[in-house]
Amino acid sequence: MDQSDQTTDSVGIERVDKELPSAARMYDYYLGGTHNFASDRRAAEQAIAAMPATVLGARANRAFLRRAVQFLVDAGVRQFLDLGSGIPTVGNVHEVAHRVAPDARVVYVDVDPVAVAHSRGLLADEPNAAAVRADLRDVDRVLGHPEVARLLDLDQPVGLLMVAVLHFVPLSDDAAGIVARYRDALAPGSHLALSHMSLTGQAPEVLERFQAVYANADNQVVLRSREELLDLFTGFDLVEPGLVPLAAWRPDTETSPELLRLPGFAGVGRRR
Ligand SMILES: C[S@@+](CC[C@H](N)C(=O)[O-])C[C@H]1O[C@@H](n2cnc3c(N)ncnc32)[C@H](O)[C@@H]1O
Repeated sequence: MDQSDQTTDSVGIERVDKELPSAARMYDYYLGGTHNFASDRRAAEQAIAAMPATVLGARANRAFLRRAVQFLVDAGVRQFLDLGSGIPTVGNVHEVAHRVAPDARVVYVDVDPVAVAHSRGLLADEPNAAAVRADLRDVDRVLGHPEVARLLDLDQPVGLLMVAVLHFVPLSDDAAGIVARYRDALAPGSHLALSHMSLTGQAPEVLERFQAVYANADNQVVLRSREELLDLFTGFDLVEPGLVPLAAWRPDTETSPELLRLPGFAGVGRRR
């Protein structure tokens, strides 16, 4: 797939390389979705073989997204910028938000044309949400996008969601610098909700085997330490319980040792 096509939002699904496994579609497969091709399913099965906790991790991540959005709506946030939003599945951001606040507005951003196409299909009759195809690293393009201007008022608090996406941003790309540029564009009272795969919880060789599968996909997985993830929250005050294992962030069901060993951290911070 041509991820460099930044000249247009047009989805161009017909140009998707169906032989190249996609991180978006592999995640859809982990979650039991059907928007994936044979190459995605093969790679996803390899990832599961490399790290059997993969499916549990995907579900736990999705559950964190739901809890974080619920928390933000309860905190009064009424607009969301969901970067790396993925293929629509259970508990999409606008659905969670609209249960409490039907007027909440959401802009979904993803680089994957299949994710954007399915999001647009779902949102066809939804005036308060839109899907944009863009690379989150192109901060100016995202923030300057007409759909962002139409749906979000950047003078009011925004829920900035970067859930399970920054581990696809290479270490050389300065994730902290990218987050800081979004932070600087947002009003005080905005929040960052973030989850990210990390080096902890699983044996190093398990994580290496998992990463090796993604070496042949459209996006490679990079792992950051908890300290590096804390850096991403510069300028934000972490709300309780801080940056913690994914399943330990304000759980609403019982957590198990297996859940707590998932190699990912999650946190929500309030912009000062
Ligand atoms: C694991 S999925 C997470 C989906 C959703 N945020 C969730 O947590 O349920 C990661 C998504 O990030 C997208 N992605 C990866 N790199 C990206 C980038 N640089 N800009 C925008 N989206 C990106 C992928 O296409 C994929 O849909």
